[in-house]
Amino acid sequence: MDRLPSPSSTRPRGTSSDAYSFMDMVARNAGLYAADHTSPLSDLLEEVERYTLTQTSYPSMLTGRVEGRFLQLIVQLANAQDIVDIGTFTGYSALAMAEAISPWGKILTIEHNPGHADIAQGFFDRSPCRTKITLRRGEALEILRTLADGKTDLVFIDADKRNYSAYYGESMRLVRAGGLIVADNALWYGEVLDPQDDESRAMADFNALVQADDRADKVFLTIRDGIYLIRRKPD
Ligand SMILES: C[S@@+](CC[C@H](N)C(=O)[O-])C[C@H]1O[C@@H](n2cnc3c(N)ncnc32)[C@H](O)[C@@H]1O
Repeated sequence: MDRLPSPSSTRPRGTSSDAYSFMDMVARNAGLYAADHTSPLSDLLEEVERYTLTQTSYPSMLTGRVEGRFLQLIVQLANAQDIVDIGTFTGYSALAMAEAISPWGKILTIEHNPGHADIAQGFFDRSPCRTKITLRRGEALEILRTLADGKTDLVFIDADKRNYSAYYGESMRLVRAGGLIVADNALWYGEVLDPQDDESRAMADFNALVQADDRADKVFLTIRDGIYLIRRKPD
């Protein structure tokens, strides 16, 4: 299950509803302000966003402009050329990163839902970056286990929350020394602060695993729903 919880299910415990509404409004407006002060992405990505918001059941799963631009800048700063994208959905993160890499760069994006994969492939086919993107259909963990050690520059983790720790283990094997892992939804709508269900506990466990891992330098960013930015230390 990768559906995001509704904000009403994530009200901080012991907080009055008035205070929560105010905090919620500030967070929402800050998110809109951040998007307004972030460079727009390509016309195709704007179309993917519009399509996802209006035509799919879980539009909140979309990465969107702020995180999309963040990924592009990270890819450019790190000069990442070999990227794995776990959780394709409608293709936003894969396309955003594909637009940021060089013509010889490549992205493997993994999706197990056939409907999502069909939508994403439709957008990829229309992109000038299509030759950089390979969509693999199937279970992410099984596909990751077939990939070679130490060859990847960056892994973006954005699929089912219960497998985040397993994805992290595979990602640490895949990335080269100095390579990056970027994990979305690290805050899980604040639920990691006091986890009460399996997904929230899985995300809290994942965050604790990363924090305790001496092989990695890391920073926990409170952008959007939390982004854990991790670098495998040089050997
Ligand atoms: C949060 S969405 C990804 C959003 C996407 N990265 C973007 O930029 O919009 C998560 C996606 O992961 C897929 N997914 C969930 N569990 C998976 C698994 N075990 N293997 C492969 N894909 C999975 C879901 O079907 C969904 O499309």
